[in-house]
Amino acid sequence: MRVVRDVAAVRAAVAGSGRVGLVPTMGAFHEGHLSLIRAAREACDLVVVWLFVNPTQFNEASDLVAYPRDEARDAALAAESGADILFAPDVDTVYPRGFATTVTVSGVADVLEGVQRPGHFAGVATVVAKMLNMVGPQVAYFGAKDAQQVAVVRRMVADLDIPTRIEVLPIVREADGLAMSSRNVRLDPGERRSAAALHRGLVAAKSAVALGERNPAALARGIEAELTAVGIDPEYVAVVDPDTFTPVDTIAGPTLIALAARVGSTRLIDNIEVAP
Ligand code: PAF
Repeated sequence: MRVVRDVAAVRAAVAGSGRVGLVPTMGAFHEGHLSLIRAAREACDLVVVWLFVNPTQFNEASDLVAYPRDEARDAALAAESGADILFAPDVDTVYPRGFATTVTVSGVADVLEGVQRPGHFAGVATVVAKMLNMVGPQVAYFGAKDAQQVAVVRRMVADLDIPTRIEVLPIVREADGLAMSSRNVRLDPGERRSAAALHRGLVAAKSAVALGERNPAALARGIEAELTAVGIDPEYVAVVDPDTFTPVDTIAGPTLIALAARVGSTRLIDNIEVAP
């Protein structure tokens, strides 16, 4: 595996390499990231892993500073998982002097995470548009945990005619159901135990739908009760259309239940798909 820092080098490597798969990441790899790299390895001739802690998508300076960084560890894991190229540009390569363009997606980026984290999705959409233009992959691999990010990226790729297929892989979870996240290392042992309630609540809601519950408010109340029982006060529990993130009136088709909560000072998100 080669580590590449500049756009010319990544383009030279990609040229004539057949089917190129891109795995966008901010590093701090866990099994979720590695599952994306392995999927790209299975399906593509050349696997490029993007590693860049994108400052423009952090709306809290403290979160950016605290974000875990260990390029040597990430490089070893990416190589083991089948990456050919680790593309890890500097901030000046991605945002050179005079940089003045922002990609903003309306609608789907304006709700839930878009409200809680102002500017976050503009940062994500801009950097994803840039990496897709820099690398020119046939396929890009995203994790389902960031479901709203996936919906924003799909909207942008369709709207801007970017010729990349967006492939989404399932959430990878710890044994107790907690969705893997680079932020989980910040949980102390008590918080770590409580955090399992996020997935427990979502699974209970899915079971309720299987038993006939169709009322989004009732589903949200059940999840909130599961969370408050362990002292977690959710920022939101939303029952939405998976593409547009608009709230649904009833569970009539494939629906996403998404939530966000602070556990101690660590902000976690999770979601589950349900259908009648
Ligand atoms: O999901 C992430 O890790 C980031 O949001 C992404 C897509 C790499 C953009 O910085």
